[in-house]
Amino acid sequence: MSLSQERILATEIPGPRSQELQARKLAAVSAGVGTTLPVYVEQAGGGILRDVDGNQLIDFGSGIAVTTVGNAAPRVVEAVQRQVADFTHTCFMVTPYEEYVAVCEKLAELTPGDHEKRSALFNSGAEAVENAVKVARHHTGRDAVVVFDHAYHGRTNLTMALTAKNMPYKHRFGPFAGEVYRAPMAYPYRWPGGAEACAEEAFDAFVATVHTQVGEANCAAVLIEPIQGEGGFIVPPPGWLPRVAEWCREQGILLIADEIQTGFARTGDWFACDHEGVVPDLVTTAKGMAGGLPLAAVTGRAEVMDSVHVGGLGGTYGGNPVACAAALAAIETMEAEDLPARARAIEATFLPRLRGLAERHPDRVGDIRGRGAMLAVELVSDGPGRTPDPALAAAVHRACSAQGLVTLTCGTFGNVFRFLPPLAIGDDLLAEGLDVFEAAFDEVVAGQLSGKVG
Ligand SMILES: Cc1ncc(COP(=O)(O)O)c(C=O)c1O
Repeated sequence: MSLSQERILATEIPGPRSQELQARKLAAVSAGVGTTLPVYVEQAGGGILRDVDGNQLIDFGSGIAVTTVGNAAPRVVEAVQRQVADFTHTCFMVTPYEEYVAVCEKLAELTPGDHEKRSALFNSGAEAVENAVKVARHHTGRDAVVVFDHAYHGRTNLTMALTAKNMPYKHRFGPFAGEVYRAPMAYPYRWPGGAEACAEEAFDAFVATVHTQVGEANCAAVLIEPIQGEGGFIVPPPGWLPRVAEWCREQGILLIADEIQTGFARTGDWFACDHEGVVPDLVTTAKGMAGGLPLAAVTGRAEVMDSVHVGGLGGTYGGNPVACAAALAAIETMEAEDLPARARAIEATFLPRLRGLAERHPDRVGDIRGRGAMLAVELVSDGPGRTPDPALAAAVHRACSAQGLVTLTCGTFGNVFRFLPPLAIGDDLLAEGLDVFEAAFDEVVAGQLSGKVG
């Protein structure tokens, strides 16, 4: 890899060239497209983003859980270059090509369950979710879809309706698609009856929601992120998801697992559903699957996916050959380098550090959670009071950025600090990134205590 794997602070962050580009951005790009950290990247690889001012930042975000195999990963680069020189597009619905079929074969092999499967490919996660709902409605002949509090499924009209959080995703973008119902999420840290009671009570609340507000016979699908992403890396308590899956099966309701953020090695297994042996009827994937190229999929039971009439699914670019070549190379990398194991190793590195932080700041670190290389701390202002502290999350984020560490926040209350490093990151960068994060956290809290910053 040509990019040195070291953090370099060559200028202030953002540097002068980035600031120039940001001024051009503001004059040319819609204000609706936000920027977490306005450093303009010119090269990236392993665990490093190099900006136009010569700064090298440690990447703890992976472009929101996409560059699992690393940026410009060697196999992906080689496969894309080869494919782009051969042909760039025919439209799979017009004259097909092998790469699309090979990706669907790989999806059948890797997604949960050993039943017969079929897939369809799309361009973005939101598009995959839309199509999963289309297929579920078509197959069952039912209209309603049940989703959960804190869910995030995308920004198109239907997926906005499926997403829980108003600001910034839904605010004044309605009216939204209908026949979407929301059940409480099994969120142990904030469950009113306490974490111990969460699995049981949340299951009862879910069943009651479907029964009273929807009617089981009207419900096409239950759509869930097995670990919620944008909503705050919420991990439901053990046993809850398998019970939901079993109940759906009994009712003839399809279970759609949205594994767009959790899928493809991120959580320490191929899919988050695998941790509890849950086998959904349909799975949506995107993000990490294709090493940074836009590709998404719906994979499901053959009889469900094949129930759709010919021509009912598709799109001009869905399963573009270059994106498919990238996906095959990314998946080969995950297999060859055993990236699920790498995600578990990253968890083993992070957790003691995050627990140490919680011990130093018991009133500020409310919860530590996640799985594999998808980990988070939920920040509060008053320990057991659990009052969300988005200002603390924002201040730590700013302090990390200034020191050359790219981080992300999330959560319904904006108070969750999340970690999504590329699985290609080296141990030294991982440790250094954690040093930067911890120092930033300690400094911000110390500054708040002495009334200087906050
Ligand atoms: C769980 C989940 N579903 C759907 C989406 C939407 O994917 P996209 O941004 O590719 O449309 C995301 C994106 O963050 C996601 O995390």
